[in-house]
Amino acid sequence: TRRSVILGTGHYLPERVVENSWFEERLDTTDEWIRSRSGIERRHFAAEGQTTSDLAIRAAKAALEKSGLNVDQLDGIVLATSTPDFTFPAVATMVQAGLGMTRGFAFDVQAVCAGFVFALANADAMIRAGQADRVLVVGAETFSRIMDWTDRSTCVLFGDGAGAVVLEAQEGQGDSNDRGILASDLNSDGQYRELLYVDGGVSSTGTAGQLRMQGNLVFRHAVDKLSKTANTVLGRAGLSASDVDWLVPHQANARIITGTAQKMGLPMDKVVLTVADHGNTSAASIPLALSVADSQGRFKPGDLVLTEAIGGGLSWGSVALRW
Ligand code: ACO
Repeated sequence: TRRSVILGTGHYLPERVVENSWFEERLDTTDEWIRSRSGIERRHFAAEGQTTSDLAIRAAKAALEKSGLNVDQLDGIVLATSTPDFTFPAVATMVQAGLGMTRGFAFDVQAVCAGFVFALANADAMIRAGQADRVLVVGAETFSRIMDWTDRSTCVLFGDGAGAVVLEAQEGQGDSNDRGILASDLNSDGQYRELLYVDGGVSSTGTAGQLRMQGNLVFRHAVDKLSKTANTVLGRAGLSASDVDWLVPHQANARIITGTAQKMGLPMDKVVLTVADHGNTSAASIPLALSVADSQGRFKPGDLVLTEAIGGGLSWGSVALRW
């Protein structure tokens, strides 16, 4: 059985760090409200002129270096973003050019905060089908560009950043002890568009638009859908929650993360939490969390790592892999 094994991870966060106190000076909000409702303490914002592809290229270079590969060994790039530099070409092709890679495929995946899970599952499917042997999977966002800075209920929650992993085809036994991606589960339900969307776009307003969210309604869906998709994916892999060594969730809100872990019966010392320092970086949050935890040496070979995410669409899903 062909399996997609993570060879290396990398990430990049813009230099500018903005503490909650920055918002206290501008809006009717408090550090206490932001911390207690979301778990967020600070976030990074891209500098003027710094684009999603700039962040993505730096994360991609770091992941390649960690993998010990050069660009010629990559067969393709799958990049998840909702904040591309341009309407087209795909940010993935800009990363490709930035890496000096002139062969292979490069395309973007758009599933908002679930984007990295969707990208990872797609790259894995291509690897298992024999269409590629090594794929770079990136999540990169500059959500600061689509914030309504007068809306305290959204602009305090998001941040910018990028994370990347390199997947390589390796032969496994076909059971749940194999290294690499064991199972994935993807879902969308477009009837919930109004809960979380950007109010502009090429074929509607002709502008980039700004993020609109009914946070409490998204919250209501989150814990239930995330614990369900996580259990589905574990079932597909022939495993259960007690086998999980690390939960690496989308970092939108510490209360959603704790609620999901609780519902699954996972103790919090098995959960990677970066939301306090990164805020919600949408499709970048999982690869950022993977890379940060990896650089801290937290994952041991053979550890079962479970990722899950939900976001605009609604779209949600989960990937289980063995490190
Ligand atoms: N400071 C102070 N008060 C605020 C702020 C703020 N920054 N923002 C909102 N409030 C107020 C509201 O106006 C409301 O006041 P009211 O009761 O007088 O009307 C009160 O705080 C409570 O608001 P709620 O929205 O009910 O607060 P809640 O506890 O639900 O927390 C939050 C809000 C943090 C947004 C939460 O609902 C959440 O995290 N939701 C999910 C977000 C998410 O997961 N999104 C999906 C991924 S993102 C993506 O896909 C792009």
